[in-house]
Amino acid sequence: MADPKKLYIKTYGCQMNVYDSERMAEALGAEGYVETGTPEDADMILLNTCHIREKAAEKVYSELGRYKPLRAKNPDLKIGVAGCVAQAEGAEIMARQPMVDLVVGPQTYHRLPEMMKTVDAGKAALDTDFPEEDKFEHLPKARKNLGRPSAFLTVQEGCDKFCAFCVVPYTRGAEVSRPVARILSEAEALVARGVKEITLLGQNVNAYHGAGEGGEWSLAQLIWALNDIEGLERIRFTTSHPNEMTDDLIEAHATCAKLMPYLHLPVQAGSDRVLKAMNRKHTAAEYIEIIDRLRAARPDLLLSGDFIVGFPGETEEEFADTLKLVERVGYGQAYSFKYSARPGTPAAEKEGIPDDVATERLARLQALLGDQQRAAQVAMVGRETRVLFEKTGRFEGQLVGKTEHLHACHVEAPQELLGQVARVRIVEAAPNSLKGVLV
Ligand code: SAH
Ligand code: SF4
Ligand code: F3S
Repeated sequence: MADPKKLYIKTYGCQMNVYDSERMAEALGAEGYVETGTPEDADMILLNTCHIREKAAEKVYSELGRYKPLRAKNPDLKIGVAGCVAQAEGAEIMARQPMVDLVVGPQTYHRLPEMMKTVDAGKAALDTDFPEEDKFEHLPKARKNLGRPSAFLTVQEGCDKFCAFCVVPYTRGAEVSRPVARILSEAEALVARGVKEITLLGQNVNAYHGAGEGGEWSLAQLIWALNDIEGLERIRFTTSHPNEMTDDLIEAHATCAKLMPYLHLPVQAGSDRVLKAMNRKHTAAEYIEIIDRLRAARPDLLLSGDFIVGFPGETEEEFADTLKLVERVGYGQAYSFKYSARPGTPAAEKEGIPDDVATERLARLQALLGDQQRAAQVAMVGRETRVLFEKTGRFEGQLVGKTEHLHACHVEAPQELLGQVARVRIVEAAPNSLKGVLV
């Protein structure tokens, strides 16, 4: 028998891409491909790309450039581009980088095995449809052993919100929720493989409204059903939109035992004029009201957010409103970006603000968010929490995992605890992780 072909996948962008990469590996695995961690010995290289900001998209081309010598050495090496850049640029990628054999969008990667046949026959393959069929129904049902106790599970895809800056509605297509029964059986399959924590994914995960028993289910209903799966210990979900933060979901944070006290709820900006121009469809006060209700339900909830600075027309005063909102809310974790004009989005038509102004604002915002993050970590010292151990640490006898609040935490612990949840007391807060001891 011939050696199995080797597949190297490199993933950029959000967690949904991480999940998609796993599913693509499974689809090609059914065709005899095994994964490799290095591009040098691969027969097939697949880049799963992100189009969210200009820098993210440009990375793809510099990475492809790096594969030139590999292709020169091995003319049979196949190179594919998947994900959101593939969807947005399509055949353009092959025009710019003729080395690329295959371009596949986020909604058509179930067709990868067929596409590979075209590629193996020496032809280029391109598929960036938004098909009628559900790709998940055409992917291998068995999930691979992830080798770690925490897994992503996509429950909702696409977005109909059309924020003025964002490419996602164009690269991922319209919002679709997967049916409840299929999610539950996938979750059970993951738990059977040793998974203890599932993070439900969606571009607007809290807009979930999948077909279930008795009609459409909300995300909260889905979470409650997952809560009943024996062996599953933790549930998380991301990313949420403030306008979809329903009462039942807020309530679940108070009452659902397996739902972790962490919520990523992006607001983007603190000025109502900017929020309106961004088409976010809520005000700063409405966002704060939701936060207050969440904290009333779950006082120790750790909040995370996304921010964009330097949106077209943003004044110094409007930027100060973002700082004010951050001070009012208090984030334990956050992502902040300089606005990046994306082709085809409404905001890209508007005149931007000077880059040095945006850079300076980003630095001020990140200083504040950094202070808050450190304060949240220091506040954990002395507290007892639970840690899910995911891997061995840098030092002998150490395990590393995540606390309930998603802090990285290293603990001296026996190897048997790998993949398990244990009670830990936090004794020290370093800049990027916590140190704990078993209790
Ligand atoms: N669906 C999620 C986030 C999708 S993209 C949501 O609605 O919140 C992740 C983050 O990237 C966004 O929250 C936003 O902060 C940032 N982002 C998106 N488009 C951007 C752009 N054009 N420039 C800079 N940041 C952007
Ligand atoms: Fe993009 Fe807005 Fe949709 Fe989030 S809600 S994916 S930011 S359009
Ligand atoms: Fe990027 Fe696509 Fe995710 S643009 S952030 S990979 S949905």
